Amino acid sequence: MSSLPRVTYSNSAADFTLLHDFLDREIPLFESKQLDTSVGNIIGTDRQDRDGRNYQVHSPIDSKILIGTFVAASKAALDRSIAAAHTAFPDWSGRSWQQRVQVLRKWANNLDARKYELAMAALFEVGKSRLEAVGEAEEAVDLVNYYCDEMEKNEGYRRSLARATERELTSSILKPLGVFAVIAPFNFPAALSVNMMTAAILTGNCAILKPSAGCGLSAKIIVDALLDAGIPNGVVQMLNGDAETGRMLAEHPGIAGIAFTGSHAVGMQLARSALNGAYAKPVVAEMGGKNPAYVTRNADLTVAAQGVARSAFGLQGQKCSACSAVYVENTILNDFIQELQSFSAKLVLGDPRKRDVFLGPVYNNAAAERFNNAIDEINKSGSIVRGGKRRTDGTFERGIYLEPTVVSLKAPSRLSREELFLPFLVIRNVPDLKSALAEGNSVHYGLTAGVYTRDEKELKFFLDHAEAGAIYANRPSGATTGAWPGIQSFCGWKGSGVSHKGGLGPYFLPQFMREQSQTILT
Ligand code: UN1
Repeated sequence: MSSLPRVTYSNSAADFTLLHDFLDREIPLFESKQLDTSVGNIIGTDRQDRDGRNYQVHSPIDSKILIGTFVAASKAALDRSIAAAHTAFPDWSGRSWQQRVQVLRKWANNLDARKYELAMAALFEVGKSRLEAVGEAEEAVDLVNYYCDEMEKNEGYRRSLARATERELTSSILKPLGVFAVIAPFNFPAALSVNMMTAAILTGNCAILKPSAGCGLSAKIIVDALLDAGIPNGVVQMLNGDAETGRMLAEHPGIAGIAFTGSHAVGMQLARSALNGAYAKPVVAEMGGKNPAYVTRNADLTVAAQGVARSAFGLQGQKCSACSAVYVENTILNDFIQELQSFSAKLVLGDPRKRDVFLGPVYNNAAAERFNNAIDEINKSGSIVRGGKRRTDGTFERGIYLEPTVVSLKAPSRLSREELFLPFLVIRNVPDLKSALAEGNSVHYGLTAGVYTRDEKELKFFLDHAEAGAIYANRPSGATTGAWPGIQSFCGWKGSGVSHKGGLGPYFLPQFMREQSQTILT
């Protein structure tokens, strides 16, 4: 197993035959042994707390596959978890940062040992392809180690400041706040939960994880791996449930801060509610995107088409980083569309348990509804270039399988401005890069953006003017997707974030602490 190649979002061209052979054997075993399970919440010392309403989760791959029965935590269970976290906080926050790093490094090892299990949980829960699922599990491991490295590099975020007098000694110290609510999305149930949890607990806080309602199995693996690494009970806990459970947790008076990844609407609501008390609570949020790619006459169109299609259709377009609008210069429009068609034709839509599948199902009925509405709108205001249909034949019968869809829009509209979270790419035909950037920047999001050009002036213009926190040039593996811990920081500008600092990068951890200067006269 250790000899299997690692998957990152950028090495999709590597030879994964051995990994696929391994997964051919493991996926059916996982399905028969680890699904149809019963998962309680993790509260205090109890790893199977059942206080709350039971609910079942089925796989988006096939509604006949029962992932398990979960418990939507009751208000009393929530109160107990907050109390347990408060009990655990003094000891955990009082430990040295080196001690916390030691526990979290063990967690990273445990996650690494269970990474294929974690990947398969995400494959069944989300319907992601094998490589997306394994990539995410690898990312989760790297995230923990990256943040531990940052903690070490910054020596626990304690530094000396200047002296006003000889006898005066001042330090600046970053200290934890208390108990963080960690509210995670469905699309990266492993990586994004781990991202936020690591930051919260490594910095000395306690964390209560509320995974997406359908992702309690991967959450359980993650939290169990952390408890098995020796983290004290109460420092990390898990409450399942729906958006209402998340809201109750985030708005609980015992919560000191909120870490959230998900939709703009919910993130803004949480940010506003964090101001309701006597003082503001920190909100660290990443809230989606409407990420443009720009293709100029100076682009390598084969590379551009590949990068755009991969970012538009990877994980069925259900990434905050997905490329959902491409701005193409007039003169090369037809050539680009031809390249896009020929690359997209190779992307297999199907059951993601299979090795050759690139696109699996979308997550839920709400996605199908958004797709139908978008297609209705296109029929009035644009044209379909490829796709546009939901498949219902054969294997597609018991899931929501949408064709990778490309549309062309004559004028900007809701479809070129709003996040749809679908395998749905809008093409806008533009006279030049300047006007393209003006339109691409006019949305209220600002997460990622990409350009394809071999012209240095154009490249500089893009780098100087793109309004997004992670920007890329000439990438075949993804125009706007594929950020990796320590390699690309991932900051949401404008409506894609709240704090102007992102995950995966060097400024993430400090957001989970508050600063204190200590001046001592000797
Ligand atoms: C998200 O969809 O919320 O850069 C994040 C990427 C991934 C993460 C996307 N690392 O595509």
